[in-house]
Amino acid sequence: MADFRLPASSRIRKGKVHRAAAGARKVRAFRIYRFDPTSGENPRVDTFELDVAGCGPMVLDALIQIKGSIDSSLTFRRSCREGICGSCAMNIDGMNRLACTTAMEDLGGGDIRIYPLPHMPVVKDLVPDLTNFYAQYASVKPWLVTHTPPPPDSERLQSKEEQEKIDRPAACILCACCSTACPSYWWNSERFLGPAALLAAYRWIIDSRDEATGERLDALEDPFRLYRCHTIMNCTDVCPKDLNPAKAIAEIKRMLVERTS
Ligand code: SF4
Ligand code: SF4
Ligand code: FES
Repeated sequence: MADFRLPASSRIRKGKVHRAAAGARKVRAFRIYRFDPTSGENPRVDTFELDVAGCGPMVLDALIQIKGSIDSSLTFRRSCREGICGSCAMNIDGMNRLACTTAMEDLGGGDIRIYPLPHMPVVKDLVPDLTNFYAQYASVKPWLVTHTPPPPDSERLQSKEEQEKIDRPAACILCACCSTACPSYWWNSERFLGPAALLAAYRWIIDSRDEATGERLDALEDPFRLYRCHTIMNCTDVCPKDLNPAKAIAEIKRMLVERTS
C-alpha cells in the first residue's frame, strides 16, 4: 500500500499548554494554531484554558482575553466586532466563521479548535495572506463602468426594484470564508476566481447603471476563472452574511449560455 506522508515542514508539533488559574469558575479550553515564519520552526497547536466567566460570549472575546492576559504574541485580525469588516474570519471547530459573531455556547461544551482560513499561506498564527484573494477581487473591476455621460441634471438613478437586485450581493464583506471553503478554489486558486470575486462580478453585471455587462461576461468566459465552479455549495453554506455565491455563479453561467443562443 502506498505510504503518503506530509512534507516535514508542514507537520504540526506539540504546542504549549497554558493551564487555568486556580479558582477559575468556568474553564473552556482553546486549541489554537500557532505559526511564526521567522522562527524557522514548524507550526504547533497551543492549548489555552480560559476562565470564560470573566469574558464576553463570543469566540473573539475569548481570543482578546487570551491575548491580553495569557500570551500577547497570539496574532489575529479583527476590527469591528460586529460582523461588518470581515477581518476576523477563521476556521473555528472545522468551519469557516467570523470569530466576532460566533458564540462559544453554540459550539457545544468541548475544546474549541481555532485555525486560520484553510488553504491559504499563513502570515502568522491566525492571519492568512489574502494578497491573491484581493487581487482576484480587483480583477473583476468592482466599480461602476459607464461609456455614456451621466444625465446633465441628476445622478444615474435606479428604481427600487433595480436596487433590490443588487442589495444582497452588495452586502458581501469580503471575509473570504466562502472562497477558502471551496475545494475548487483550494486546488486552483491561481486561476479560478473563487466565489467571493465571482459574487462581486455578478453584483456589477446585474447593476442597471453599469454599461460594461458584455465586457464583464467576456472576461469570465474561461474554463478556469468561472467554470472551475462545480456547484459544490460549500461557499453558500459557510457565508456568515447568508449570501448565495453559488447561485450568483450559476446565474453568470446562465447569462453566458443565453447570449450565445
Ligand atoms: S458552488 Fe462553486 S464556488 Fe461554491 S464552493 Fe462549490 S465549487 Fe466552490
Ligand atoms: S460571499 Fe459571504 S463568505 Fe464570501 S466573502 Fe462575501 S460575506 Fe464572506
Ligand atoms: S471583527 Fe469585523 S467581522 Fe469580526
